[in-house]
Amino acid sequence: MNSNKMSGGRRRNLLLPYFIVHLARFLLAYQALRTYDRVKIVGRVLFKWLVVFYVPVYVWLASNLLKFFWNWDGGPAESVLPFFVGWIPLPFFHPISGSVLGWLLCGLVGVAWLLVSSALLNVVVERGVAFERLEEKWRRACLHVGLVTSTNLIPQEEVKEFPPVISVTPNSFVVQSKGVTPEMIQEKRTELSAAMGLFLGDVGFLKQPDGATHADLLELTYSWHDLPAMVPLRNVPVAESGKVVAGLSMQGWQWLSFEEMVHLGVSGESGSGKSVFLRSLITQLLVTEPEAVVVGIDFKGGAEFAFFENLGNFVCVDEYESAGAVLRLVFAEYQRRVALIRGSECDSIYQLRLSQGLYLPPVVIIIDEAAEFWQSDKGTARVVLAEAFGFIDKLARLGRFAGIHLVVCTQRASADVIPTQVRSMLTTRVIFKVSQKEDSIMFVGTAAATKLRKIPGRFYLRAPDGNLKELQAPYVTKAEAKEILLRRPHAAPNGLMESFREKVWHNRLAA
Ligand SMILES: Nc1ncnc2c1ncn2[C@@H]1O[C@H](COP(=O)(O)OP(=O)(O)OP(=O)(O)O)[C@@H](O)[C@H]1O
Ligand SMILES: [Mg+2]
Repeated sequence: MNSNKMSGGRRRNLLLPYFIVHLARFLLAYQALRTYDRVKIVGRVLFKWLVVFYVPVYVWLASNLLKFFWNWDGGPAESVLPFFVGWIPLPFFHPISGSVLGWLLCGLVGVAWLLVSSALLNVVVERGVAFERLEEKWRRACLHVGLVTSTNLIPQEEVKEFPPVISVTPNSFVVQSKGVTPEMIQEKRTELSAAMGLFLGDVGFLKQPDGATHADLLELTYSWHDLPAMVPLRNVPVAESGKVVAGLSMQGWQWLSFEEMVHLGVSGESGSGKSVFLRSLITQLLVTEPEAVVVGIDFKGGAEFAFFENLGNFVCVDEYESAGAVLRLVFAEYQRRVALIRGSECDSIYQLRLSQGLYLPPVVIIIDEAAEFWQSDKGTARVVLAEAFGFIDKLARLGRFAGIHLVVCTQRASADVIPTQVRSMLTTRVIFKVSQKEDSIMFVGTAAATKLRKIPGRFYLRAPDGNLKELQAPYVTKAEAKEILLRRPHAAPNGLMESFREKVWHNRLAA
């Protein structure tokens, strides 16, 4: 290639595409900045961006333009070509000139660089704007909701302090605590979100790389969009065995592992989505752990669960006689498992499975409408009641390591509804929207659940360590659950299940 022989006309032709490319670049930059409302911030970011991206470009361009005009007749005209590519390393493009292919290539590289630089620009702008916008929003919101602590270092003056923002990423920001605790933020989360015009997620002390937490730095996750109001169960990934997806949080899917949790408590006002949550839990469990045996205790007529009976290892009971009979069998199974575990060096059936390959399916006892179970004795004999309650009590205290788990669901979780010794074993808790502060405080220790948005299926998951996470539960209708369960691989016949069925059917026939 001989660039020195390039004619002046051809060189002038090069300028047009160059200017078009740069014009497009500016338009894209303008478009990126236009979406942000605050002119002052835009100005500042634009300035930073000019320094970072454009000063080197223009220095370089200026020197080349000089050369270009200097050598208008027969100079090293190829120096014009790298104009396309701004300031990326020149040697790659230096030899390309003259041929049509070379031009084409330069054009392509120019367009590619245009796209890359716009993307980079967007990142820089987003970050810059995110920090400044977020900081201002946070400061205003803190003052608005009164999230400030007072210091009286100067006795005459009360100085109000609020947690200053330290750093911002696209989905979280870190603030200095200044006496504010994660619980205080959690309780004001809804007001803060509304005042900031975004959605705050989890709040907690910032984790250090070694897993320890900073004592004075808080990390808050946020999103510009709320969680979706509807998460169909068919869009939920299938979990590994023994795990189920509790819901979708701002950080993605949240799993519950039966092995890790002791027992699960579910609370929330009428219509908040408790029964649907249980339905999704059962459906997922029967899919991921087909051998698992589920006992559904539903004293509201058994309407919620009955349809699972033909779809897997599920037995539904709706009165004390059957409940007592089934729970007696579960307890016998518990004793058998305890003997097995005692005879080995393991601590639980889960370890037994790992070390000896002995598989004992988890047994999950689900009580919907716990108030109906513990309070409605409708003329039932005392011994029958005492037996059913006694088994639940024992299994709550002892069941976990034998793989027997309780899920207790109730509108209100006061001591007159669920006996205290059972309630204290429900270490993992799910709370849907409630209207009474006391109901929320009683169940999860803060009033946060009264502030949940009134969306069915929206809930807080309280892990055993006390951390609250907002989630949207997967939605599944009975028809869909049936369809899903009919499609899954068939479970092998299960001795425990057979004996349950015998008992329940026997009782039903007798009734
Ligand atoms: N995860 C969800 N996503 C979308 N909608 C839901 C979800 N969960 C529940 N709903 C809607 O809310 C309605 C009531 O839900 P559900 O029957 O589970 O309430 P509940 O808390 O069990 O009430 P109750 O205490 O009266 O039994 C459902 O019929 C459904 O339309
Ligand atoms: Mg219900």
